[in-house]
Amino acid sequence: MTLIDPSSLPRLAACYPHAAGRLQHKLAAEPLLSHAALAEAARALPPTHVEKRVHDAEDGAAFRMSGDQRDSADAIAQGGIDAAWIMLRCIEQLPDYRALLHRLLAELAPVITPASGPVRDVKGFAFISAPGTHTPFHFDAEYNILFQIAGDKVFATYPPAPPFVDLDAREAFHVSGANMLGWEPGFAAAGQQHMLAPGDALFVPYAAPHWVHAGDTPSVSLSVTWQTRASRAEADALALNPALRRIGLPYYDPAAAARVPWLRAAASRIGQRVGLL
Ligand SMILES: [Fe+2]
Repeated sequence: MTLIDPSSLPRLAACYPHAAGRLQHKLAAEPLLSHAALAEAARALPPTHVEKRVHDAEDGAAFRMSGDQRDSADAIAQGGIDAAWIMLRCIEQLPDYRALLHRLLAELAPVITPASGPVRDVKGFAFISAPGTHTPFHFDAEYNILFQIAGDKVFATYPPAPPFVDLDAREAFHVSGANMLGWEPGFAAAGQQHMLAPGDALFVPYAAPHWVHAGDTPSVSLSVTWQTRASRAEADALALNPALRRIGLPYYDPAAAARVPWLRAAASRIGQRVGLL
């Protein structure tokens, strides 16, 4: 049995890799995504890969860690927690979850591989969100498909370009990992809002800013993320920018570039290897 509805492949082909698009899946009954299994996963992961944050942050600054992190597994086992957002990071560390992620991507490979080359650096994240959880405006430097397993979500996506995400933010991510973005009231009407219920999934393009709002019941979602050879090159080219700027050479701006920055990426990797970056 396939995990992704076959009708989703032509729909993904129409949008991948540049635009957000919806898919349909059959993961709702997947045992690995039950609260009991996710609680076990939370116990098996390194503690630093289980994050519990406040559920009602208005912006990135307020999206702080919440209370005792050690009780996250128990909270998941009980079906979630009334007022917290819990993320299991890098669940590909656990063999059963890694197999599930690769099974999902294998079904999508006929669309993904011709358009962007094979996936690499596959990672998985599980989100257990209290009703009404708001994930503030941010971006992720990866391709993502979010599978909605339980509860509803509104997932709003924006183009990966100014004014929503500027070059400073793109570069800062590759220096510090910071990915929260400033929110302007004028952005509200510019996003594309996707209503996700169990059985729905959403492809989110590389670096596309987004905010997420959970509905009135506890929510469970699974994200599978990946890189491509070109996205790796873009990241390496961005990491080279501060050094280029210091010596007055032109820097790389993904919003203005028409081609993949292969040469800049190669120079960046050499710089990283010899400790210059
Ligand atoms: Fe995100």
